[in-house]
Amino acid sequence: MSRTFRSGIAAVDRYLAKGYDEVRGMSSRFSATICGHLLRRQSEMGVHGSVAEIGTFEGRFFIAMALALGNGEHAYGVRSFFVARQPCPRPATCQCRHAWLVA
Ligand SMILES: C[S@@+](CC[C@H](N)C(=O)[O-])C[C@H]1O[C@@H](n2cnc3c(N)ncnc32)[C@H](O)[C@@H]1O
Repeated sequence: MSRTFRSGIAAVDRYLAKGYDEVRGMSSRFSATICGHLLRRQSEMGVHGSVAEIGTFEGRFFIAMALALGNGEHAYGVRSFFVARQPCPRPATCQCRHAWLVA
Protein backbone atom coordinates (compact mmCIF):
# COMPACT_ATOMS: atom_id res chain seq x y z
CA MET A 1 0.00 0.00 0.00
CA SER A 2 1.42 3.38 -0.90
CA ARG A 3 0.48 6.60 0.82
CA THR A 4 0.73 10.16 -0.48
CA PHE A 5 2.10 12.63 2.03
CA ARG A 6 0.49 16.06 2.21
CA SER A 7 1.39 19.29 3.96
CA GLY A 8 -2.26 20.05 4.70
CA ILE A 9 -2.04 23.49 3.06
CA ALA A 10 -4.11 23.39 -0.13
CA ALA A 11 -1.93 25.81 -2.13
CA VAL A 12 1.26 23.96 -1.18
CA ASP A 13 -0.19 20.53 -1.96
CA ARG A 14 -1.49 21.73 -5.34
CA TYR A 15 1.98 23.06 -6.20
CA LEU A 16 3.67 19.86 -5.02
CA ALA A 17 1.30 17.75 -7.13
CA LYS A 18 1.51 19.94 -10.23
CA GLY A 19 4.30 22.43 -10.66
CA TYR A 20 7.11 21.27 -8.40
CA ASP A 21 8.72 19.16 -11.14
CA GLU A 22 8.49 22.04 -13.61
CA VAL A 23 10.98 24.09 -11.58
CA ARG A 24 14.57 22.98 -11.93
CA GLY A 25 16.14 22.16 -8.60
CA MET A 26 17.59 19.64 -6.22
CA SER A 27 15.17 19.58 -3.29
CA SER A 28 12.85 16.61 -2.95
CA ARG A 29 9.08 16.85 -2.91
CA PHE A 30 9.18 14.98 0.38
CA SER A 31 11.32 17.64 2.09
CA ALA A 32 9.02 20.43 0.86
CA THR A 33 5.98 18.47 2.06
CA ILE A 34 7.47 18.02 5.52
CA CYS A 35 8.46 21.70 5.81
CA GLY A 36 5.00 22.75 4.60
CA HIS A 37 3.49 20.49 7.23
CA LEU A 38 5.71 22.02 9.94
CA LEU A 39 4.72 25.55 8.88
CA ARG A 40 1.04 24.58 9.04
CA ARG A 41 1.47 23.04 12.52
CA GLN A 42 3.34 26.14 13.73
CA SER A 43 0.55 28.39 12.44
CA GLU A 44 -2.06 26.25 14.18
CA MET A 45 -0.06 26.62 17.39
CA GLY A 46 0.03 30.40 17.01
CA VAL A 47 3.62 30.64 15.83
CA HIS A 48 3.75 33.20 13.00
CA GLY A 49 6.53 34.88 11.09
CA SER A 50 8.42 35.06 7.84
CA VAL A 51 10.67 32.43 6.25
CA ALA A 52 14.06 32.71 4.60
CA GLU A 53 15.98 30.32 2.40
CA ILE A 54 19.65 30.67 1.55
CA GLY A 55 20.41 28.86 -1.68
CA THR A 56 17.09 29.04 -3.54
CA PHE A 57 18.58 28.11 -6.93
CA GLU A 58 15.52 28.50 -9.22
CA GLY A 59 13.01 28.48 -6.38
CA ARG A 60 11.63 24.95 -6.39
CA PHE A 61 11.59 24.65 -2.58
CA PHE A 62 11.21 28.39 -2.00
CA ILE A 63 7.89 28.54 -3.88
CA ALA A 64 6.46 25.78 -1.67
CA MET A 65 7.48 27.66 1.48
CA ALA A 66 6.09 30.94 0.15
CA LEU A 67 2.74 29.30 -0.58
CA ALA A 68 2.54 28.22 3.08
CA LEU A 69 2.63 31.77 4.41
CA GLY A 70 -0.25 33.60 6.01
CA ASN A 71 -1.20 37.26 5.98
CA GLY A 72 1.67 39.59 6.83
CA GLU A 73 4.30 36.87 6.56
CA HIS A 74 7.07 37.22 3.98
CA ALA A 75 9.44 34.90 2.16
CA TYR A 76 13.04 35.99 1.67
CA GLY A 77 15.24 34.09 -0.75
CA VAL A 78 18.97 34.38 -1.36
CA ARG A 79 20.58 33.03 -4.47
CA SER A 80 24.28 33.11 -5.15
CA PHE A 81 25.41 33.47 -8.75
CA PHE A 82 28.47 32.02 -10.36
CA VAL A 83 30.96 34.72 -11.25
CA ALA A 84 33.85 34.25 -13.64
CA ARG A 85 37.17 35.58 -12.44
CA GLN A 86 39.09 37.24 -15.21
CA PRO A 87 42.58 38.72 -15.24
CA CYS A 88 43.05 42.48 -15.23
CA PRO A 89 42.35 43.71 -18.77
CA ARG A 90 45.18 46.26 -18.63
CA PRO A 91 48.48 45.63 -20.50
CA ALA A 92 50.73 42.77 -19.41
CA THR A 93 53.10 45.26 -17.79
CA CYS A 94 50.44 46.21 -15.28
CA GLN A 95 51.60 45.26 -11.81
CA CYS A 96 48.23 45.37 -10.17
CA ARG A 97 46.72 42.27 -8.66
CA HIS A 98 43.18 43.12 -9.66
CA ALA A 99 40.81 40.45 -10.76
CA TRP A 100 37.51 41.30 -12.37
CA LEU A 101 34.34 39.61 -11.41
CA VAL A 102 31.94 39.21 -14.28
CA ALA A 103 28.39 38.03 -13.58
C1 LIG B 1 20.92 21.37 -2.65
S1 LIG B 1 20.79 22.89 -3.54
C2 LIG B 1 19.10 23.27 -3.28
C3 LIG B 1 18.58 24.32 -4.23
C4 LIG B 1 17.13 24.74 -4.08
N1 LIG B 1 16.78 25.01 -2.69
C5 LIG B 1 16.14 23.75 -4.68
O1 LIG B 1 15.00 23.76 -4.23
O2 LIG B 1 16.48 23.04 -5.60
C6 LIG B 1 21.66 24.06 -2.47
C7 LIG B 1 21.83 25.45 -3.06
O3 LIG B 1 22.44 26.27 -2.05
C8 LIG B 1 23.43 27.09 -2.62
N2 LIG B 1 24.40 27.44 -1.55
C9 LIG B 1 25.20 26.60 -0.88
N3 LIG B 1 25.94 27.28 0.04
C10 LIG B 1 25.56 28.57 -0.06
C11 LIG B 1 25.96 29.75 0.62
N4 LIG B 1 26.88 29.73 1.58
N5 LIG B 1 25.37 30.92 0.27
C12 LIG B 1 24.41 30.95 -0.70
N6 LIG B 1 24.00 29.85 -1.38
C13 LIG B 1 24.57 28.68 -1.06
C14 LIG B 1 23.99 26.27 -3.76
O4 LIG B 1 24.55 27.08 -4.76
C15 LIG B 1 22.73 25.53 -4.28
O5 LIG B 1 22.08 26.29 -5.28
